Amino acid sequence: MKLKLKKLILKKSKSKIVCLTAYSKNFSQILDKYCDVVLVGDSLANVLYGMNDTLTITLEMMINHAQSVIKGIKNSIVVVDMPKDTYSNTYDALKNAKKILKKTRCDAVKIESNNKNFHIIKKLVDSKVAVMGHIGYTPQFKKKFKVHGKTTNDEKKLINEAIKIQNSGAFSIVLECISARTSKKITEKLKIPTIGIGSSINCDGQILVTDDMLGLSGFYPKFVKKYSALNKIIEKAVQKYSKDVNKGSFPTKNNSY
Ligand code: KIV
Repeated sequence: MKLKLKKLILKKSKSKIVCLTAYSKNFSQILDKYCDVVLVGDSLANVLYGMNDTLTITLEMMINHAQSVIKGIKNSIVVVDMPKDTYSNTYDALKNAKKILKKTRCDAVKIESNNKNFHIIKKLVDSKVAVMGHIGYTPQFKKKFKVHGKTTNDEKKLINEAIKIQNSGAFSIVLECISARTSKKITEKLKIPTIGIGSSINCDGQILVTDDMLGLSGFYPKFVKKYSALNKIIEKAVQKYSKDVNKGSFPTKNNSY
């Protein structure tokens, strides 16, 4: 396992792990200064491509964006989401994961759990591909959004799922929209770090979709804290540009050759 990934595991219970998503170099070069992990998430489908779900994003689209992201990275760990149907069996999973690693030089891939695909993680890890797991609300497998781990039964199921993912060799695991109580139990039980999104402070680290926390995507569920209203900032700038062009006050001599 790469030193960077080992260091991330060691960070568990020492300091929080900071993660955000990126789909391009302009963002990743800023994130790189502050994030332990930059995820090229398949949320790309909704956020950039305006798709209704993440189901039709292709391997090529993920690779193209990851190639852009990696150009802005000096220190962070870069993880790339494997699109649905690219890891349905061990053969496809390994072929596609290797393609992602080779073409992007990222550090790891993330695959969503369907509570059955532990053998896929094991196969990848045995073949030296670092894997991040993902449980709770997993948009590739669950159509309807809900908070997970609210009942004792669901809690038990999630703890077992997380342990199986760890035992298959994953170096870390995303907990998406899991109740605070269950997230705490999972985090306490695991040796690998948990990265929460909508899963409370009880995780070893946090991740958000960058466009959401910047106020750019228009998607602001309860678990998203808006750190900026970038949509308004962009709109003001575009409005000013439009006025300047109409008035003839842009370009000036300074902007001309
Ligand atoms: O696709 C994505 O951005 C993700 C995060 C929400 C964890 O999987």
